Amino acid sequence: MSTIGDKYLLGSGRSDHDRLRVISAIHDGRTRKLLRRAGFVSGQRFVEFGCGLGYVTRWAASEGAYAIGIDLNEDSLAVAAELAREAGLKTAQFRSANIYEPELEPESVDVSYSRWLMVHLNRPVEAMRAIYAALKPGGVMVCEEADVSAVYAEPASVAYTEMRDICMEGARQRGVDYTGGRRAHLWAKEAGFEIVHVDAYHPHHITGEHKGFWNWTLRAVGHGMVKEGSLTATRLEELVAGMNEADASPDTLVGHSRMHQLIAKKPDLAAGVN
Ligand SMILES: C[S@@+](CC[C@H](N)C(=O)[O-])C[C@H]1O[C@@H](n2cnc3c(N)ncnc32)[C@H](O)[C@@H]1O
Repeated sequence: MSTIGDKYLLGSGRSDHDRLRVISAIHDGRTRKLLRRAGFVSGQRFVEFGCGLGYVTRWAASEGAYAIGIDLNEDSLAVAAELAREAGLKTAQFRSANIYEPELEPESVDVSYSRWLMVHLNRPVEAMRAIYAALKPGGVMVCEEADVSAVYAEPASVAYTEMRDICMEGARQRGVDYTGGRRAHLWAKEAGFEIVHVDAYHPHHITGEHKGFWNWTLRAVGHGMVKEGSLTATRLEELVAGMNEADASPDTLVGHSRMHQLIAKKPDLAAGVN
C-alpha cells in the first residue's frame, strides 16, 4: 500500500486497479452527463484531478478536449497513459502532481473534474483553491464526492454496519471526511466558487457483479487499518465473512455510498457577469 495523498488508505496494484475499473463502470455514464451539463465541449482544456486510471480523462480526450489527468500514484498514471496510447488518443496527457501544487498555468483550464478525491484529503478547501487558481475566469469545477454513511444492507447486516462505521471512524481519525460529498458545495463556496448545480444519486443492488463493491472497498480500507494497527486481522475476517453472507443472499439489498454531484463556477469578475 502506498502512502500517497493525505494518508490515502486505498492501495495501488492489481486489485485496486480492478476496483477503479468497477468505479468507472458504475459511475462514468452519470459523470459524462454531468460534464455535459457543466458545458464541457470539444476543444476545451480539461483537467482531471486524482484521475486514478484515467477513464474520465481519456473520455474527455476522445470527445476532442485537451485533457490532462493528474494523480500522485505513478503506478496508476503509467497504466492510464498506456491505455491512452493503445486508444490512439493524442490529446490525453498524464502527470504526477499533488492537487495542492498541480503545476498548471494559472487561469488556463476550462473544466476541472474530480471524483472520489476530496473525501480523501485533509484540506479539501485548499485543494479547491488550487483548482480555482488553475481555472479560467468563468471556468467550472465539476466534482463527484461520496457520503459513505449511506452504505447499508436490508435486511440489516451487522457486518456491513460495523465495517462502514469502523472505516468512517478511521477516516475521522486521519482527519478526512468520508461523508464529505454532502459538504462539497460548502467547501467550494469557501474556496471562492459560485454554486451552479447540486444533485446526488444512490446506487442499490440486489444481485449482479456490482453488489459487492462496497464489501470490496470497505475490506480494502480495513486491510490498510490492519497494517496501521487500528483493526485486528481476526475482526476484519469476521466482518468480511458477514458482508459476504449479505452479498450472497438474493433477498439482501445493498445500498452503496451516495454520490453527490457539484458544478461550481469561478466568477468572471472582469466581465462583470458570473
Ligand atoms: C478513490 S481514487 C479515485 C480515482 C478516480 N477519480 C476514479 O473515480 O476512478 C482517488 C485517487 O486520488 C489520488 N490522490 C489522492 N490524494 C491525492 C493528491 N493529494 N493529489 C492528487 N491525487 C491524489 C489517488 O492516488 C487515487 O488515484
